[in-house]
Amino acid sequence: MGSPLDVFAAGVLAGRVALITGGGSGICRGIAAAFVRFGARVCIVGRKQDALDATAAAIGGDVLPFAADVRQPDALAAAVAATIAKFGALDTLVNGAAGNFLAPAAALSPNGFKTVLDIDLAGTFNASRAAFEALRTSGDGLVLNISATLHYHGTPLQIHASAAKAGVDAITRNLAVEWGRFGIRSCGLAPGPIGDTEGMRRLAPGSGELVAKMEKSIPAGRFGTIDEIAAAAVFLRSDAARYISGHVLVVDGGAVVSTPSFLDP
Ligand code: COA
Repeated sequence: MGSPLDVFAAGVLAGRVALITGGGSGICRGIAAAFVRFGARVCIVGRKQDALDATAAAIGGDVLPFAADVRQPDALAAAVAATIAKFGALDTLVNGAAGNFLAPAAALSPNGFKTVLDIDLAGTFNASRAAFEALRTSGDGLVLNISATLHYHGTPLQIHASAAKAGVDAITRNLAVEWGRFGIRSCGLAPGPIGDTEGMRRLAPGSGELVAKMEKSIPAGRFGTIDEIAAAAVFLRSDAARYISGHVLVVDGGAVVSTPSFLDP
């Protein structure tokens, strides 16, 4: 099986400039690398400058590593300004910064709950707000919010992340309605379980047995790959998706629509 990215033409994102929060690692690092591969210039935002520098060096091409915490609106305004100073414009915002851990609702501290809401939900609003003027000026802006499928059901040990991602999906719809008139699309991308990510290491720790059980429960029979999420992001940024706004694209091998059954399909 080749990479799903191989189907795209080389210059499909030529001329695009994207700011990607959470772009230093995991899924959003993959999105940053794919965007650069297809001609975009990108600013990757995360909390640790050294990690961002290493990612930028590994990706190569036009990558600006900029340290900022999405909980700090001023830091995001500075990231937007630095992106425009370096690349001349900004037409795409990918909201991918997220924090998560497993915790039972009855034991999670109010500050633990609030911390994840602050990063995932307020961070998405903060970055969108900071990027708005540049996205509007571009005439063809996109806010791409990375959420999840946790909140489609009552996922155990995930009350904080589920609440946050439900809010992120609400932001996706709201911005589509409010900012469409400014030439800005707003889309969501909801990955299912993706292998080889920090999230998977945190949320499915330890035994191969648990991983095997999880993979068996997915209709596709396996976890997804970072490139499979990156390919969906390239599609949503491309002109092929120019009439798509306000919806969340679930990329999960059919996991979220499946339900436990006594019948073996
Ligand atoms: N279980 C329960 N509570 C936890 C926790 C865990 N594993 N990790 C942190 N918390 C709580 C802390 O106890 C604290 O609450 P308290 O003040 O009541 O004790 C609160 O969350 C904030 O923790 P802190 O470590 O100060 O926050 P931070 O801003 O430094 O880090 C996190 C943010 C907690 C989300 C941290 O896990 C993180 O930085 N993650 C980034 C990477 C990541 O999560 N990637 C996965 C994406 S799916």
